[in-house]
Amino acid sequence: MPKKALTVLLAGGLVLSSAPAAVVDANPHAPNALSDHAFDNKIIKKIKEDRMYNQIALLSESPREAGTQGEYNAVQYIKSEFESYGYETELQPFEFESGWEGTSTISINGTDFDGDVHTFNGSVNGTAQGSLVYVGLANDVTADLDGKIALIERGEISFYEKVQNVLDQGAEGVIMFNREGEEGNDFGYTYDGQDIPAVAINRDAGLQLVEQLETEEVTATVSVEGSKPIYGTSYNVIATKKPHKNKDTGQIITVGAHHDSVEGGPGANDDASGVSGVLELARIMAKTPTDTELRFMTFGAEEKGLVGSYHYASTLSQDEVDRTVAHFQMDMIGSKDAGDLIMFTPDGEKNLVTDLGAAAGARVAEEMVEYGQLGRSDHVPFFERGIPAALFIHAPLEPWYHSPEDTLDKISKEKLKEVVEIVGSGVYQIARPDTPALENAKVAPGPVDYDFEDRPL
Ligand code: BES
Ligand code: ZN
Repeated sequence: MPKKALTVLLAGGLVLSSAPAAVVDANPHAPNALSDHAFDNKIIKKIKEDRMYNQIALLSESPREAGTQGEYNAVQYIKSEFESYGYETELQPFEFESGWEGTSTISINGTDFDGDVHTFNGSVNGTAQGSLVYVGLANDVTADLDGKIALIERGEISFYEKVQNVLDQGAEGVIMFNREGEEGNDFGYTYDGQDIPAVAINRDAGLQLVEQLETEEVTATVSVEGSKPIYGTSYNVIATKKPHKNKDTGQIITVGAHHDSVEGGPGANDDASGVSGVLELARIMAKTPTDTELRFMTFGAEEKGLVGSYHYASTLSQDEVDRTVAHFQMDMIGSKDAGDLIMFTPDGEKNLVTDLGAAAGARVAEEMVEYGQLGRSDHVPFFERGIPAALFIHAPLEPWYHSPEDTLDKISKEKLKEVVEIVGSGVYQIARPDTPALENAKVAPGPVDYDFEDRPL
């Protein structure tokens, strides 16, 4: 039998190390399409969107904020699911900043202020004393604040900018009061290099000080003690499938989602949907021979600043990084009320993952999957270590994003299925044993046309 014609159809990153070359087929009518479809079908036919939907139902029963019992229950559930598919599964614990503590006091003209005083996250410890100067919202501070305490109203610009603007004028301390219409005083951040004590008070107390300043000089003392982060523990869950012993290319593909939700949010779409995709692909791949190591993983503390995926990426040796040819991230893949699928990369450039996704989209859904530029999810730490990575998500986003309304009833089984078909076919294009290893060094041009879109979120 003559070997199939060699075709390299990837646009920007796929590379074929040795002949006969692999085929990444974008065109369902190309001569080799049948065989690629046959391979796609091996995966696609096994996808059960009802199973995915049920996983989301279970996971979204309660919030899964990082560091809470809700997250831990989800972690145990995901681990047991991976194990039930036959995977060796690792829980990877890590710490993240879950809050801030500190005891702060203010005195006004020598008298203790009797309202509640909140320590800014990141405030230094120490005491500052000086004349109190009201600088409004602090968006354009011209007053000389040398040796003085700045009284600031919250709102309009960031905490960073407010503190920096008064610091630049020489301020020694900050008292900030809440914005109009907001109660309480639980807010405020200072950042690296902003080394002055900074505290928050409620709006009424702040306005009283503003009034007092209209009639008299005020000397204020701001004192912050015991200002330090509170750490919580979160987990990544990692299930590894080793390649077939005699057909090991040495390469690794990672497939991820995040299992944590925002505080109080059921996070059905963000990101129980992605977890259901990772579990479903893991279930299917468990029984599918591959020549590539597959690592299925769910990250914790994504909503706290991609902490779990940064932790995971930091544990990879340079050798593992070099062998990891692709990271597929699924985040928010099932909302009825969101737009179409798009692949985001942190630099807005195509890479092997977007090539594979676009080619798979053309084959299995006969649609062009566009790409765009966005970070904001767990593909970022992989990208930063030089691993081709992309986020699979629907955009524009649904209105329920990060709200208590992000619930199961807003999930579309069709959307779930389509994304997992595309990601699964993309993964299998590399992982199936008949395609040779990829090399990262060379790039093959190809006819998979897919466009960049600056799509609104
Ligand atoms: N699922 C979102 C990612 C996202 C949000 C993508 C909006 C596109 C548009 C993710 O869980 C998230 O909310 N990420 C955080 C970033 C993180 C660094 C805290 C965000 O975007 O605020
Ligand atoms: Zn998310």
